[in-house]
Amino acid sequence: MDESKKLWGGRFEGKTDPGFAGFNNSFRFDQRLFEADVTASIAYCVALEGAGVLTAQEGSQIRRALEEILAKSSFNDSSAEDVHSFVEARLIELTGDLGRRLHTGRSRNDQVATDFRLWLREAIDDLNTIVRDVQTALLDFAETNRGVVIPGYTHLQRAQPVLVAHWCLAYFEMLARDRERLREVRTRVNVMPLGSAALAGTSFPIDREVLARSLGFAAVSRNSLDAVSDRDFCVEFLSACSLIMVHLSRLAEDIILYATIEFGILELGDAIATGSSLMPQKKNPDSMELVRGKAGRVFGDLLALLTTLKGLPLAYNKDMQEDKEAVFDAYDTVASSLRVSATVLRNISVNSERASASTGYMNATELADYLVRKGMPFREAHEVVGKVVMRAIELGKELDQLSLADLREFSPLFAEDVHVAISLEQTLSSKSQVGGTAPKLVASALAAARQSLNE
Ligand code: ARG
Repeated sequence: MDESKKLWGGRFEGKTDPGFAGFNNSFRFDQRLFEADVTASIAYCVALEGAGVLTAQEGSQIRRALEEILAKSSFNDSSAEDVHSFVEARLIELTGDLGRRLHTGRSRNDQVATDFRLWLREAIDDLNTIVRDVQTALLDFAETNRGVVIPGYTHLQRAQPVLVAHWCLAYFEMLARDRERLREVRTRVNVMPLGSAALAGTSFPIDREVLARSLGFAAVSRNSLDAVSDRDFCVEFLSACSLIMVHLSRLAEDIILYATIEFGILELGDAIATGSSLMPQKKNPDSMELVRGKAGRVFGDLLALLTTLKGLPLAYNKDMQEDKEAVFDAYDTVASSLRVSATVLRNISVNSERASASTGYMNATELADYLVRKGMPFREAHEVVGKVVMRAIELGKELDQLSLADLREFSPLFAEDVHVAISLEQTLSSKSQVGGTAPKLVASALAAARQSLNE
């Protein structure tokens, strides 16, 4: 480490051990905060002018230098301790002693918390856009396959038929909640710690409200000890990221499973599949497997930070530098997983024939409901239809292939209208209360979903 560039050399006589310096330094990863750091420094410079610490002329000289640093810095100075030291060293190179005044009443503790919140605010906005694109891909896929019916499963056993659009809308809803969560996290991210200084607050008359507004923060932190040591906003972000990954991994699993020969519901396009180096016939869903796998990594980021924060004494501790890599890694992982998921959705097709939902007794509930409408208590109808299914299995037939005479052996309530009542169309259209898979409802849910994306 370049000893002359240290922000804290005065009290020291000996040199920093190079191995420890490498361990301590964060510049290799916190350089991602560069823009935020310079932006916050420019705003802080204005606040120092307002507080009478810098004259207007000194302030504008510092700000011009910071603009220049922002415009043309390259990060090849590997000796910087962290992004804050890096920017300050550049500033001093450009402005000499004047640059040494910028850190008045400020600490890297409130600085890093401010930078990180500025960075995260943008990252959240980016993620919001990318999640929205996956939602768009889901709606496009639903519309391309309007009217296509697939088996719905519980316990991974055939249960009741649903429209493929209904399946798409299920994931759409999960992602809508994810975006809502990101919005909520953003309101707690968007609070400014700057002016808390090291831990006790600043000794200079900085107008924190004005400073906050100039950086687009909606509020200022109320307690300096809390402000420099709070990383709740990171944990909340990682938690929102984790849920996004839970949702993507379930989507991934459905697609992986439905694209097997055993299920045969979906076909993977060449653009998002890979082959085997040994088995010539293989077409593997690596894209979705990686998304499913990366969920674990993001949960790891969440757990790592929770564990780091647990039991830390107030206020700032260097442990907290570990927040950065967890958050950056989660952001990168979630962003790339979302992008790939959207691409997959744009490169799969439904195998309408294989998707057929007319086998597997998925209209058994319909048959029981039929008896209920004829006056039989549901529990009894359930029992009767269970016996009918056993018979159908013996005969190797589906329920709608049984004759009226076959059915009447189980109940005299079966009549001529029974076959219509258990048809696939009827099975679907009867699910007509809000949230159901009746085609009319799904069509209006699709339209509402599309509409909500434009809001
Ligand atoms: N690189 C540090 C971090 O990310 C910046 C704050 C350092 N503060 C200190 N007192 N050493 O947490």
